[in-house]
Amino acid sequence: MNAKTDKVIETPRLLMRRMTSADLPAIAEIFADPEVMRFYQSGVRDRAATVAWLERNLERYAREGVGLYALIHRESGELAGHCGFIVWELSGRRELEIAYCLAKKFWGHGLASEAAIACRQYAFAALDEPRVISIIHHQNEASKRVAIRNGMRVWRKTEIKGTPVVIYAVEAPDPACDAASKTGTGRPPNRSA
Ligand SMILES: CC(C)(COP(=O)(O)OP(=O)(O)OC[C@H]1O[C@@H](n2cnc3c(N)ncnc32)[C@H](O)[C@@H]1OP(=O)(O)O)[C@@H](O)C(=O)NCCC(=O)NCCS
Repeated sequence: MNAKTDKVIETPRLLMRRMTSADLPAIAEIFADPEVMRFYQSGVRDRAATVAWLERNLERYAREGVGLYALIHRESGELAGHCGFIVWELSGRRELEIAYCLAKKFWGHGLASEAAIACRQYAFAALDEPRVISIIHHQNEASKRVAIRNGMRVWRKTEIKGTPVVIYAVEAPDPACDAASKTGTGRPPNRSA
Protein backbone atom coordinates (compact mmCIF):
# COMPACT_ATOMS: atom_id res chain seq x y z
CA MET A 1 0.00 0.00 0.00
CA ASN A 2 1.39 3.41 -0.92
CA ALA A 3 0.66 5.75 1.99
CA LYS A 4 1.20 8.85 -0.15
CA THR A 5 -1.62 7.93 -2.51
CA ASP A 6 -3.98 6.71 0.15
CA LYS A 7 -5.42 10.09 1.01
CA VAL A 8 -9.05 10.06 2.15
CA ILE A 9 -9.87 13.57 3.39
CA GLU A 10 -8.08 16.93 3.25
CA THR A 11 -8.60 20.09 5.28
CA PRO A 12 -6.65 23.36 5.23
CA ARG A 13 -4.18 22.13 7.87
CA LEU A 14 -4.57 18.36 7.80
CA LEU A 15 -4.47 15.37 5.54
CA MET A 16 -6.21 12.15 6.52
CA ARG A 17 -4.89 8.99 4.94
CA ARG A 18 -5.15 5.28 5.58
CA MET A 19 -2.62 4.02 8.08
CA THR A 20 0.04 1.47 7.27
CA SER A 21 2.28 -0.65 9.48
CA ALA A 22 4.96 2.04 8.96
CA ASP A 23 2.89 4.33 11.22
CA LEU A 24 3.47 2.07 14.22
CA PRO A 25 6.26 4.10 15.91
CA ALA A 26 4.38 7.40 15.69
CA ILE A 27 1.10 5.88 16.91
CA ALA A 28 2.88 3.97 19.70
CA GLU A 29 4.42 7.21 20.98
CA ILE A 30 0.99 8.84 21.19
CA PHE A 31 -0.61 5.81 22.87
CA ALA A 32 2.19 5.71 25.48
CA ASP A 33 1.17 9.11 26.87
CA PRO A 34 -1.05 8.70 29.99
CA GLU A 35 -2.62 12.14 29.49
CA VAL A 36 -3.67 11.33 25.93
CA MET A 37 -5.04 7.94 27.01
CA ARG A 38 -6.73 9.16 30.19
CA PHE A 39 -10.26 8.56 28.95
CA TYR A 40 -9.66 5.30 27.07
CA GLN A 41 -10.65 2.04 28.77
CA SER A 42 -7.34 0.56 27.65
CA GLY A 43 -5.26 3.24 29.36
CA VAL A 44 -1.79 3.59 27.83
CA ARG A 45 -0.97 0.98 25.20
CA ASP A 46 2.45 -0.63 25.02
CA ARG A 47 4.00 -1.59 21.69
CA ALA A 48 2.31 -5.01 21.55
CA ALA A 49 -1.10 -3.50 22.30
CA THR A 50 -0.49 -0.83 19.65
CA VAL A 51 0.45 -3.48 17.07
CA ALA A 52 -2.87 -5.25 17.83
CA TRP A 53 -4.76 -1.92 17.63
CA LEU A 54 -3.16 -1.10 14.26
CA GLU A 55 -4.03 -4.57 12.92
CA ARG A 56 -7.66 -4.13 14.01
CA ASN A 57 -7.72 -0.77 12.28
CA LEU A 58 -6.29 -2.13 9.02
CA GLU A 59 -8.96 -4.88 9.17
CA ARG A 60 -11.61 -2.16 9.46
CA TYR A 61 -10.55 -0.68 6.10
CA ALA A 62 -10.97 -4.11 4.50
CA ARG A 63 -14.20 -5.06 6.28
CA GLU A 64 -16.06 -1.73 6.61
CA GLY A 65 -14.43 0.36 3.89
CA VAL A 66 -13.68 2.98 6.56
CA GLY A 67 -11.58 3.20 9.72
CA LEU A 68 -9.39 5.51 11.71
CA TYR A 69 -7.04 7.53 9.51
CA ALA A 70 -3.57 8.89 10.16
CA LEU A 71 -3.89 12.61 10.72
CA ILE A 72 -0.98 14.31 9.00
CA HIS A 73 -0.18 17.87 10.02
CA ARG A 74 0.57 19.46 6.64
CA GLU A 75 2.89 22.18 7.87
CA SER A 76 5.25 19.88 9.77
CA GLY A 77 4.53 16.62 7.93
CA GLU A 78 4.17 14.92 11.32
CA LEU A 79 1.60 12.31 12.23
CA ALA A 80 -0.45 14.40 14.68
CA GLY A 81 -2.88 11.64 15.70
CA HIS A 82 -5.82 9.83 14.23
CA CYS A 83 -9.36 10.66 13.25
CA GLY A 84 -11.97 8.73 11.32
CA PHE A 85 -14.75 6.22 11.62
CA ILE A 86 -15.75 3.25 13.76
CA VAL A 87 -18.83 1.21 12.92
CA TRP A 88 -21.04 0.27 15.87
CA GLU A 89 -24.21 -1.72 16.36
CA LEU A 90 -26.27 0.14 18.98
CA SER A 91 -29.78 -1.01 19.94
CA GLY A 92 -29.91 -3.08 16.75
CA ARG A 93 -29.01 -0.16 14.50
CA ARG A 94 -25.77 0.47 12.61
CA GLU A 95 -24.14 3.70 13.71
CA LEU A 96 -21.04 5.43 12.39
CA GLU A 97 -18.85 7.01 15.02
CA ILE A 98 -16.42 9.86 14.36
CA ALA A 99 -13.46 9.34 16.70
CA TYR A 100 -10.34 11.46 17.21
CA CYS A 101 -7.11 11.46 19.18
CA LEU A 102 -4.18 13.87 18.94
CA ALA A 103 -0.66 13.91 20.33
CA LYS A 104 -0.53 16.42 23.17
CA LYS A 105 1.70 18.89 21.36
CA PHE A 106 -1.09 19.39 18.79
CA TRP A 107 -3.87 20.10 21.31
CA GLY A 108 -5.56 23.48 21.57
CA HIS A 109 -5.27 24.67 17.96
CA GLY A 110 -8.68 23.59 16.69
CA LEU A 111 -7.19 20.64 14.80
CA ALA A 112 -9.51 17.98 16.26
CA SER A 113 -12.53 20.12 15.41
CA GLU A 114 -11.20 20.69 11.88
CA ALA A 115 -10.70 16.94 11.39
CA ALA A 116 -14.04 15.93 12.95
CA ILE A 117 -16.01 18.44 10.88
CA ALA A 118 -14.34 17.18 7.69
CA CYS A 119 -15.22 13.60 8.67
CA ARG A 120 -18.86 14.56 9.27
CA GLN A 121 -19.04 16.26 5.86
CA TYR A 122 -17.40 13.25 4.21
CA ALA A 123 -19.79 10.83 5.96
CA PHE A 124 -22.85 12.70 4.67
CA ALA A 125 -21.61 13.65 1.20
CA ALA A 126 -19.40 10.72 0.18
CA LEU A 127 -20.63 7.84 2.34
CA ASP A 128 -24.31 8.84 2.30
CA GLU A 129 -24.66 8.16 6.02
CA PRO A 130 -27.94 9.25 7.65
CA ARG A 131 -26.33 10.13 10.96
CA VAL A 132 -22.95 10.23 12.70
CA ILE A 133 -22.23 9.92 16.41
CA SER A 134 -19.36 10.42 18.85
CA ILE A 135 -19.12 8.26 21.96
CA ILE A 136 -17.41 10.22 24.73
CA HIS A 137 -16.31 9.43 28.29
CA HIS A 138 -18.64 11.43 30.55
CA GLN A 139 -15.73 13.47 31.96
CA ASN A 140 -13.93 14.20 28.68
CA GLU A 141 -14.82 17.88 28.32
CA ALA A 142 -12.41 18.60 25.43
CA SER A 143 -13.91 15.79 23.37
CA LYS A 144 -17.44 16.99 24.15
CA ARG A 145 -16.47 20.47 22.89
CA VAL A 146 -15.21 18.94 19.65
CA ALA A 147 -18.53 17.09 19.22
CA ILE A 148 -20.48 20.32 19.80
CA ARG A 149 -18.26 22.20 17.33
CA ASN A 150 -19.03 19.36 14.93
CA GLY A 151 -22.73 20.25 15.09
CA MET A 152 -23.61 17.36 17.41
CA ARG A 153 -25.95 17.36 20.38
CA VAL A 154 -26.33 14.92 23.28
CA TRP A 155 -28.35 11.94 22.07
CA ARG A 156 -27.97 9.37 24.87
CA LYS A 157 -26.22 8.84 28.16
CA THR A 158 -25.36 5.21 28.78
CA GLU A 159 -22.59 2.82 29.81
CA ILE A 160 -20.26 0.88 27.53
CA LYS A 161 -18.35 -1.95 29.21
CA GLY A 162 -19.06 -0.33 32.58
CA THR A 163 -17.83 3.15 31.57
CA PRO A 164 -20.35 6.01 31.65
CA VAL A 165 -20.43 7.68 28.23
CA VAL A 166 -22.34 10.45 26.52
CA ILE A 167 -23.29 9.77 22.92
CA TYR A 168 -23.45 12.85 20.72
CA ALA A 169 -25.17 12.70 17.34
CA VAL A 170 -26.03 14.76 14.28
CA GLU A 171 -28.37 13.78 11.46
CA ALA A 172 -27.55 14.31 7.79
CA PRO A 173 -29.14 17.47 6.41
CA ASP A 174 -32.42 16.91 4.60
CA PRO A 175 -31.70 17.50 0.88
CA ALA A 176 -35.19 18.99 0.45
CA CYS A 177 -34.49 21.59 3.17
CA ASP A 178 -31.14 22.37 1.58
CA ALA A 179 -32.85 22.98 -1.73
CA ALA A 180 -35.43 25.16 0.03
CA SER A 181 -32.78 27.30 1.65
CA LYS A 182 -31.16 27.78 -1.76
CA THR A 183 -34.48 28.94 -3.27
CA GLY A 184 -34.95 31.31 -0.34
CA THR A 185 -38.58 30.22 0.09
CA GLY A 186 -38.01 28.12 3.18
CA ARG A 187 -39.87 25.34 1.40
CA PRO A 188 -38.71 22.51 -0.82
CA PRO A 189 -38.81 23.68 -4.46
CA ASN A 190 -41.45 21.10 -5.46
CA ARG A 191 -44.04 22.52 -3.01
CA SER A 192 -46.41 25.33 -3.96
CA ALA A 193 -46.51 28.47 -1.86
C1 LIG B 1 -10.09 15.69 22.62
C2 LIG B 1 -8.99 16.21 21.73
C3 LIG B 1 -8.97 15.40 20.44
C4 LIG B 1 -9.26 17.70 21.41
O1 LIG B 1 -8.28 18.11 20.48
P1 LIG B 1 -7.98 19.66 20.19
O2 LIG B 1 -7.39 19.75 18.83
O3 LIG B 1 -7.20 20.24 21.33
O4 LIG B 1 -9.43 20.27 20.17
P2 LIG B 1 -9.81 21.71 19.59
O5 LIG B 1 -8.60 22.59 19.63
O6 LIG B 1 -10.50 21.48 18.29
O7 LIG B 1 -10.78 22.27 20.70
C5 LIG B 1 -12.16 22.04 20.69
C6 LIG B 1 -12.76 22.67 21.93
O8 LIG B 1 -12.33 21.96 23.10
C7 LIG B 1 -11.87 22.89 24.06
N1 LIG B 1 -10.89 22.21 24.89
C8 LIG B 1 -9.67 21.78 24.51
N2 LIG B 1 -9.08 21.16 25.56
C9 LIG B 1 -9.95 21.25 26.60
C10 LIG B 1 -9.93 20.78 27.95
N3 LIG B 1 -8.88 20.12 28.44
N4 LIG B 1 -11.02 21.02 28.72
C11 LIG B 1 -12.10 21.65 28.23
N5 LIG B 1 -12.19 22.10 26.95
C12 LIG B 1 -11.11 21.90 26.17
C13 LIG B 1 -11.31 24.01 23.23
O9 LIG B 1 -11.21 25.20 23.99
C14 LIG B 1 -12.36 24.12 22.17
O10 LIG B 1 -13.49 24.73 22.74
P3 LIG B 1 -14.41 25.79 21.97
O11 LIG B 1 -15.17 24.98 20.97
O12 LIG B 1 -15.26 26.36 23.04
O13 LIG B 1 -13.47 26.77 21.33
C15 LIG B 1 -7.60 16.11 22.41
O14 LIG B 1 -7.70 16.73 23.68
C16 LIG B 1 -7.14 14.69 22.57
O15 LIG B 1 -6.56 14.10 21.67
N6 LIG B 1 -7.37 14.10 23.76
C17 LIG B 1 -6.92 12.74 24.05
C18 LIG B 1 -7.68 11.70 23.23
C19 LIG B 1 -9.16 11.75 23.49
O16 LIG B 1 -9.61 11.84 24.63
N7 LIG B 1 -9.93 11.64 22.40
C20 LIG B 1 -11.36 11.63 22.46
C21 LIG B 1 -11.89 10.27 22.76
S1 LIG B 1 -13.68 10.30 22.79
